[in-house]
Amino acid sequence: MPKFAYINKKFVNFKNAKIHIEDRGLQFADSVYEVIAIINNNLIDLDFHLKRLRYSLNELNIKYKFNKKELTKIFLNLLKKNKTSNGIIYLQITRGVQFREHKYEKKISPNIIIYSRDKKFNIPGKNFKGVTTITHEDMRWKRRDIKTVNLLPNIIAANKAKKMKAYEAILLQNGKVTEGTSSNIWIIKKNNLITHPANTDILKGVTRTSILNIIKKTSLKLVEKSFSLKQLLEADEVFLTSSGSFITPILKIDKKKINNGKIGNITLKLAEMYSRSCMHG
Ligand code: PDD
Repeated sequence: MPKFAYINKKFVNFKNAKIHIEDRGLQFADSVYEVIAIINNNLIDLDFHLKRLRYSLNELNIKYKFNKKELTKIFLNLLKKNKTSNGIIYLQITRGVQFREHKYEKKISPNIIIYSRDKKFNIPGKNFKGVTTITHEDMRWKRRDIKTVNLLPNIIAANKAKKMKAYEAILLQNGKVTEGTSSNIWIIKKNNLITHPANTDILKGVTRTSILNIIKKTSLKLVEKSFSLKQLLEADEVFLTSSGSFITPILKIDKKKINNGKIGNITLKLAEMYSRSCMHG
């Protein structure tokens, strides 16, 4: 367990860290968040996370102003205090506390929660692993581009996956793949790397953005287009991406093996390129 959390300008004992029972994050999921990977004390893709955080806050009109320098100082301080050198930073900003009422007050002030947790990542090397997945109906709302803690449909699907001993559930909307419950999904067919366009139907993953930069250095052709369940199952290789999973190969979807249940060469190469960029900045 980490020793410290940071709540509203103060480092506090993690065990005793508290938020008011009328916080709108608790009562309405009126709250946004980010999960930032830490590798060898480096904050991975920090600029992309902060850009998306600004976007989420802005879309929901949550009035929290921050600057990169200050926030980075808090992150690094927290990592040091908690002795986290490999793990994640969790940052959540709720709209704040008021009497329970759907409409929020103009003058409400946000609550800021930050803590770190140790975590081991799935990166190429001796223990690099591929995972099993299931498919599940996408039951979410129409603004999935905003990173809110309004995650109940994701949780239902993720726990169905858990029940089936699978790592992730791939979400389907009208026969098309949107994304995973907490990841973006990619397929490779011949020389094409295909992923859902970054519109309001998915979360524009930070890892996704990084990979779009990496593939410019390869001969792969990027296709940002939604794809069907059939295309998913017939793909040469499939993988998922997120700040918690980096690039993780998908070896099985429901009962269908992908690439004979083995990690594909292109996925491995991309994972190597991405993890190298994380190690060396
Ligand atoms: N989830 N899509 C959804 C629905 C997600 O929740 C996430 C991340 C992603 C990938 O985004 P990124 O590459 O920025 O991590 C895509 C985080 C890790 C979580 O909720 O724990």
